Amino acid sequence: MVFFVKRVFLLALIITVSACIPGLYYFGFHGPSIRLTPEEHEGFTEDEECLECHGKESDPDEAPLSTHYGFHGCLKCHNDEVTNADLIKRSDTSDQNP
Ligand code: HEC
Ligand code: HEC
Repeated sequence: MVFFVKRVFLLALIITVSACIPGLYYFGFHGPSIRLTPEEHEGFTEDEECLECHGKESDPDEAPLSTHYGFHGCLKCHNDEVTNADLIKRSDTSDQNP
């Protein structure tokens, strides 16, 4: 019986923790850096510029739409330094994308 209760508890814990992680991602964790795709982002710095391509009125076939176009200071979360290793990793995985 004790064993059973422990298992249920553990399961509940795992579910709770995994449900929280996407939320945590927003608060404190940064999004993908625009430096990973310099060709698309050269010269853009202002939120208004970002939203021309990523806002809710933009064409989702042109660029991925922001899920959070109401945020301010896009570059605070999307301008992290990238290393060569990041760029290599990126080009490896992008081969698998359609
Ligand atoms: C508090 C940090 C933060 C701010 C500020 C922020 N973002 Fe993000 N952004 C994230 C995180 C985290 C993700 C990854 C999770 C996701 O896709 O929702 C992300 C993902 C994105 C994506 C990729 C979506 C996809 O489908 O690949 C776009 C585009 C984007 N943000 C645009 C913007 C724009 C434009 C602004 C400014 C109006 C902005 N972000 C402000 C944290 C932020
Ligand atoms: C001229 C249109 C344009 C502007 C302006 C623009 N972007 Fe993008 N953005 C794109 C395109 C196209 C992609 C898709 C690139 C890809 O995945 O190859 C993209 C991708 C992204 C992504 C997802 C990157 C990833 O690695 O998944 C984020 C985050 C993002 N942009 C943020 C921004 C921010 C912040 C700004 C403002 C400084 C901005 N963009 C301005 C066209 C634009």
